[in-house]
Amino acid sequence: MRKIIVAPSILAADFSRLADEIRRVEQAGADWIHCDIMDGHFVDNISFGPAIVDLVRKNTKLPVDVHLMIEHADHYVPRFVKAGANSITVHVEREANHDVEKTLHAIRDAGCRPGLSLNPATPFESVEPFLDKIELLLIMTVHPGFGGQSFRPEMMKKVKRAAEWNKSREHKIEIEVDGGINADTARLSIQNGANVLVAGTSIFRAKDYREAIEAIRGASL
Ligand code: DX5
Ligand code: ZN
Repeated sequence: MRKIIVAPSILAADFSRLADEIRRVEQAGADWIHCDIMDGHFVDNISFGPAIVDLVRKNTKLPVDVHLMIEHADHYVPRFVKAGANSITVHVEREANHDVEKTLHAIRDAGCRPGLSLNPATPFESVEPFLDKIELLLIMTVHPGFGGQSFRPEMMKKVKRAAEWNKSREHKIEIEVDGGINADTARLSIQNGANVLVAGTSIFRAKDYREAIEAIRGASL
């Protein structure tokens, strides 16, 4: 069994005391901090940019996992690297308007772990040509843009395909799920082969962050 990684998405945090929220999830046992970057073009919402990632970096020792839901990710990668990202995930869809292979190379050359993501409507086949060029595959379990949506169990087919791919390889990719993750959907995702669980609402809206994080992680038992 691979180590289960719980990555709280700060999109659901209280931004009026963001530094404190980050410290609290770190103390509560989070493994990574997930930052959702939205540009109002690739997705129908605008979140935050490198300045906030920089603030996150300064308030945690944990790896900072940046998820770019933006067009022309290649243009912005250096700014997120400079802000302190440890992994940067970009989207495979044509609407993301970039050369996926080049962007993945640029991320790796900058010393970050490259990741690739696909929307619920995007077939697994579209990421297959890139699997040996990435460190993590982020399978969206909701349509990206907003927190608090319901998990789509049909996405487990893609998780299974990624887990199958891993079986035949020495170099394994992290299989990350994002959207509608709570204790129940985390259990299902882990059963199907996911090992990185991103969760916004179910952690930051919980009374007890440690309990919420352990419920997601404990789902592996
Ligand atoms: C969705 C984002 C997710 C989101 C998850 O566009 O990529 O990371 O913040 O939020 P919850 O856990 O609330 O679905
Ligand atoms: Zn995300």
